[in-house]
Amino acid sequence: MQAHIPHASRLIYGCMGLGGGWNNSPASEADTNQARQIIDKALELNINVFDHADIYTFGKAETVFGRALKAAPHLRESMIIQSKCAIRFEDELGPKRYDFSASHIQSSVEGILSRLNIEQLDILLLHRPDPLMELDEVSEVLTRLQQQGKVKHLGVSNMHGHQINYLQSALQTPIVANQLEMSLAFRDWIEDGITTNSEANRSMGYAPGTLEYCMLNKVQLQAWGSLAQGRYTGATTENQIDEQTASLVSKLAAEYETTPEAIVLAWLMKHPANIQPVLGTTNLARIEACQQAEGVNLTREHWYKLFETARGQEMP
Ligand SMILES: NC(=O)c1ccc[n+]([C@@H]2O[C@H](COP(=O)([O-])OP(=O)(O)OC[C@H]3O[C@@H](n4cnc5c(N)ncnc54)[C@H](OP(=O)(O)O)[C@@H]3O)[C@@H](O)[C@H]2O)c1
Repeated sequence: MQAHIPHASRLIYGCMGLGGGWNNSPASEADTNQARQIIDKALELNINVFDHADIYTFGKAETVFGRALKAAPHLRESMIIQSKCAIRFEDELGPKRYDFSASHIQSSVEGILSRLNIEQLDILLLHRPDPLMELDEVSEVLTRLQQQGKVKHLGVSNMHGHQINYLQSALQTPIVANQLEMSLAFRDWIEDGITTNSEANRSMGYAPGTLEYCMLNKVQLQAWGSLAQGRYTGATTENQIDEQTASLVSKLAAEYETTPEAIVLAWLMKHPANIQPVLGTTNLARIEACQQAEGVNLTREHWYKLFETARGQEMP
């Protein structure tokens, strides 16, 4: 499926909701049990890629995942585990910031491996572009981490094509993935392509060509926020356009004999970029509902109807 990681599943389980929440309470046994239940459910559904970040629930998401793995180490071989580093929250040293310094990246990866109880990350993603990035320094530390066997593949997140191209120029191995916010609700990645040469494009602020850069260079696109936090599948809708979209999603789910979640994800997956949706739900039934997307192939007409309804106006 993926150019560089052929055994990766199309769907990715996003672990940001694990660990008992963004608070200072320590991760509990119940949180570890929840992680184990979710891991089992994902693997049972042939979802084998797990997405982490060092910051998720302040490290607790990785901690509970690592505890679950420690109790069942045989599960590791069925998994592709990725994590992200470089976002730092406000602390005694400074405000919220991004940190591509060698010392931060190295110590962050060591913390990730220790919390996850694993020897090697399958993919390390740089979470958000650091404007103060020194190319040689980043390339050196990433190469060292690969030579030390701590990281297998390199990826990025929230970067546009030019940034990826620049970073790639200094690396010895290909950037295998770029994780961006992409969904039926968050459509800049696709609006960019259809509004070229129009007023709407000028106010978009989205770097043109990111999608094409990734497709041409075999940088696997991963979509965070792919369920749009449930906006079209039962969570509270924010406005009339969302309500109309949710109602269309539900009608199509009945027509395709599938779940609303599957329709929302199938819309992303119909795109030829072969996008991997990242699922952030911690609800076991919803994970199952999402997995049905793999069996849905929307017609061109339904794809455009969903697009038109979610954008609230017809195509330009
Ligand atoms: N690279 C980045 O910068 C970045 C940023 C954010 C997230 N991520 C990754 O992407 C993953 C997914 O992102 P996400 O969690 O923001 O987006 P998401 O998958 O679109 O939404 C998941 C959230 O929406 C809720 N939800 C989904 N369907 C619902 C429904 N029908 N009713 C009520 N609530 C519903 C879930 O609650 P329940 O758990 O109750 O289902 C969960 O809190 C994360 O886990 C993380 O791995 C990456």
